[in-house]
Amino acid sequence: MMEDIASHIMDIVMNSITARARHISVTIEKDPDAHRLTLAIADDGVGMDRETAQKVQDPFFSTKTGRKVGLGIPLLKGTAETTGGSFALQSERGLGTSIGAAFDTDHPDLPPLGNLKDTFLVLIVSHPDVDFTFRCRLDGKDFSLATKDLKNELGDVPLNHPEVIGFLTKYLDEQL
Ligand SMILES: Nc1ncnc2c1ncn2[C@@H]1O[C@H](COP(=O)(O)OP(=O)(O)O)[C@@H](O)[C@H]1O
Ligand SMILES: [Mg+2]
Repeated sequence: MMEDIASHIMDIVMNSITARARHISVTIEKDPDAHRLTLAIADDGVGMDRETAQKVQDPFFSTKTGRKVGLGIPLLKGTAETTGGSFALQSERGLGTSIGAAFDTDHPDLPPLGNLKDTFLVLIVSHPDVDFTFRCRLDGKDFSLATKDLKNELGDVPLNHPEVIGFLTKYLDEQL
């Protein structure tokens, strides 16, 4: 099991990057009334055909076939399902992939959120060409950040410019 939700986000988003996504959205929302935490990650990368999309959810697939497939997806699915939640993956070749996971916030095995700020920051500055949309609704906080808007403001200054990194660090610290 991965130790926190932020690590799951990092892993799933890295899959989107590998799939050459240009737009990636990450939404994490806590619904205190329903005792639910939901995570949704969507990309416009290369996508998967039906069979692949099924196989990558199976933790035993790699051992059965000898093909080297990682465990990022089965781990998230496992975490969601052990906490009494659910998992869904939808993908279409040439269009993209979206992944949704729900967790029961009362379950003792619910991992902590982890460091969302650093996770978002690292993703933004190490992939300045990708348009990220982050949305977090957590314990009264309502945070959203679309890097496309920042890029429009910044013009030619790249998102990984030292001053921009400084600004982003401060912004994430204040808002998240
Ligand atoms: N967003 C995505 N778009 C296209 N293919 C994906 C995506 N996410 C996962 N995959 C496919 O599923 C495989 C398994 O992903 P994962 O379980 O995270 O393990 P790993 O990343 O180590 O291979 C990836 O290698 C890739 O082929
Ligand atoms: Mg992975």
